[in-house]
This record gives sequence, structure tokens and C-alpha cells, in this order.
Amino acid sequence: MAVTRVELAGRSYDVQVGEGLLVNFPSLCGALLRKKNVPIITDKNVAANWRDTLTTALQAAGFEPDYLVLDPGESAKSWPVLEEVVDWLLAREVERGDHIVALGGGVIGDLTGFASAIMKRGCGFIQVPTTLLAQVDSSVGGKTAINASTGKNLIGAFHQPSLVLADTGALATLPRREMLAGYAEVIKYGILGDRAFFDWCESNGANVVAHDHDAVEYAVTQSVKAKARIVAEDERETTGARALLNLGHTFGHALEAQTGYSERLLHGEAVAMGMALAARYSARLGHIGSEDAERVATAIAASGLRTEIRDLGMNCDGAVLVAHMLHDKKMDAGTLPFVLLRAIGEAYLDKDVALDDVAAFLTEQLA
Ligand code: NAD
Ligand code: GLY
Repeated sequence: MAVTRVELAGRSYDVQVGEGLLVNFPSLCGALLRKKNVPIITDKNVAANWRDTLTTALQAAGFEPDYLVLDPGESAKSWPVLEEVVDWLLAREVERGDHIVALGGGVIGDLTGFASAIMKRGCGFIQVPTTLLAQVDSSVGGKTAINASTGKNLIGAFHQPSLVLADTGALATLPRREMLAGYAEVIKYGILGDRAFFDWCESNGANVVAHDHDAVEYAVTQSVKAKARIVAEDERETTGARALLNLGHTFGHALEAQTGYSERLLHGEAVAMGMALAARYSARLGHIGSEDAERVATAIAASGLRTEIRDLGMNCDGAVLVAHMLHDKKMDAGTLPFVLLRAIGEAYLDKDVALDDVAAFLTEQLA
């Protein structure tokens, strides 16, 4: 098991990565569980696979789990479901010093984290991420949110968990498509800031997606270390360091919007295509060579992820995609910052990108 500390002064916490953490849940939580009843928010898919394991572990230690099991999917990040969660917690008289458990992927983590942030002006919560994406990204760093009718994650708060338990064994039941989507966020850390990790991903990406035990543990641990370092440096995304985590997200956001935020294109799949576009656009600006841009795209594709936007069959040109980007929450005083590359393993924030040139570039990529 690997333990990474997210250093945030009074809000510091550990992220534990390893197999079998669910079985040891009570002892790993220690004093964070201070009452017999333990409130747990999860979804039906996760409950079907992992509820019994967690229940057995808690009951063996004298606790009684109390589950709220939601329908799976992005629609849970909404006002009505948030209200349901908060009412459920209030009915159980959850107090500020208590900890609410988020057992699930990024949807459950974001929703439970936001409910915890607003319950009695802030309760504790424990992230137990069960998707690869949630283990390497969303469970660490304290971004919590629900979606608005006008866009994703527009209503939320920074609220750090007290503990993250990433049981890599829980990924055994995750569908391949979800493993792939999560892997996009893994290789992202290499492309944006760690050349050696990118090289490792080039050779081992397919093994991660295929659930190779050692490859998964290494990938999750390295990703968590990278994220913890960046969050400690720039918790609230004010200095530009944390914004680098948005590599591939501005292009990806446009693809998600054009495909209707649907099953047609998962978030991680959009980020994968977005990173290939960011690398190619960096080459177009002359910051990296085109052979490095293609190396990035090839490494992403080697895992099984798609990188070519023409394969999406979107009936639009680059200007339509750029119009979607203008609704991005990362817009800042009329400009849209892009995360681009100076080298593989060295991303930077470019606030002077000419959007008409981006549109022309995207039209070429769509042809
Ligand atoms: P998700 O939570 O919807 O999970 C994907 C699917 O896998 C769901 O159907 C879920 O029921 C199922 N599932 C989860 N764990 C499983 C398991 N172990 N076995 C079988 N099935 C399982 O999606 P996600 O990709 O984990 O997260 C996406 C969300 O994360 C988005 O809402 C996104 O906005 C958010 N996000 C947040 C941050 C952040 O910093 N807070 C970062 C990235 C993404
Ligand atoms: N997923 C981006 C961030 O946490 O900042």
C-alpha cells in the first residue's frame, strides 16, 4: 500500500492506494468513524459489486452501515438529487464532526463532497473512489460540484476530504470502457509534467487498462502523487499550476458539448482526444515538433483510446467547436486559456491563443 499526503496545512489528508482497502475500511478510518451508524452514499452499480464487502468489514468492527443508493450516471449531479442526499443526511442527524462516505466514481464523489460542504456549513467526508478516473483524479483535491442546466460542474465548492481510500481491487468490476476513460487522466500527468512517467505509460498503458495488478498500482500511485503535489501548490486554481490539469479539457469540453454530454463520448474519452489536439496545436504553433505531437497521440491510442476527432462523425466545422469553448467555465475576462506543450512532460498555460486559428486547425482535423 502507498500513502501520499496532500499537504494543505490544517486541511492535510492521506490518500491510500492499494488492494484490499475496503476490507480494512474501519481500521483505516480510525477515529474518523465516531458513531455506530456510518452514512454511505453510493450508486446501484457500485452497491451491486462492493456493498457486501464494505458491510461485512464495518459490521465485523461493530459499525452499522447506512446506505443511500442512487441511480448511476451524471444526472445524479443535480439539484433534486443533492436535495435528496442532504435531506437523507439531515434525517440521520449527521453532525459537523461526522464523516460521510462517498463510495463510487466521480459522480458520487462530486455530489457527496458538495453535500458535505453545505451540510451544517461543512461536514467531514471520506472518498472511497471505485473508478480509475476517480482514484487518479476526482477524489483528490477537493473540487466538489453538481451540474447546472447551462453547464457541467458550475455549482460547487472547494471542500477537501479527510481521507481518500483508493482500493485498486475495486477496479476489477469496472467495465473496460470506464478503465480506458480513466486511463486518459493517468497519461495526462505524464504528458503535462513528467516525461519519465509518459515513457512508462507508452510501454505500460495497455497493461493498466487490462487490469495488470502491478501496472494499475503504479499508475494510480504516480498519478495521485502528481495530483497531490499540484493541489498542494495551488489548491484553488489561482496561480496557474492547477490549471495545467486541464490539459486536453478545453478541446475535450467542446467535443463533449457537440456530442451532447452523452454516452457517445465519455469525459475521459474527450480528454484523450483533447490531449492529442493540444499536442498537435502546440506543434502548429512551433512549440514542439510534429513528431512529438504524433508520439503523444500514438501513446494515447496504444492504450485503446481514440484520438482522431473525425471518427466521431460530428457534423460540424471548427468554428462550431470553438463556439462551445466560449461557454467553458475556464473563460477568464473574455479570454480562454489553453494548456499547450513546450515539450512532452512540460505543459504551460497560453492566454493568447487566436480562436480563429484554433477553428481553422479543428476544421483540418475534422476533414
Ligand atoms: P461515474 O461516477 O459515473 O462512474 C462511471 C460508471 O462506472 C458508473 O456507471 C458507475 O456506476 C460505474 N462504477 C463505478 N465504480 C464501479 C466499479 N468498481 N465497478 C463497476 N462499475 C462501477 O464516472 P467517473 O468517470 O468516475 O467520474 C466522472 C465524474 O467525475 C464527472 O461528473 C466529472 O465531472 C467528475 N470529475 C470531477 C473531478 C474533480 O476534480 N472533482 C475531476 C474529474 C472528473
Ligand atoms: N480535475 C482537475 C482538478 O482537480 O483540478
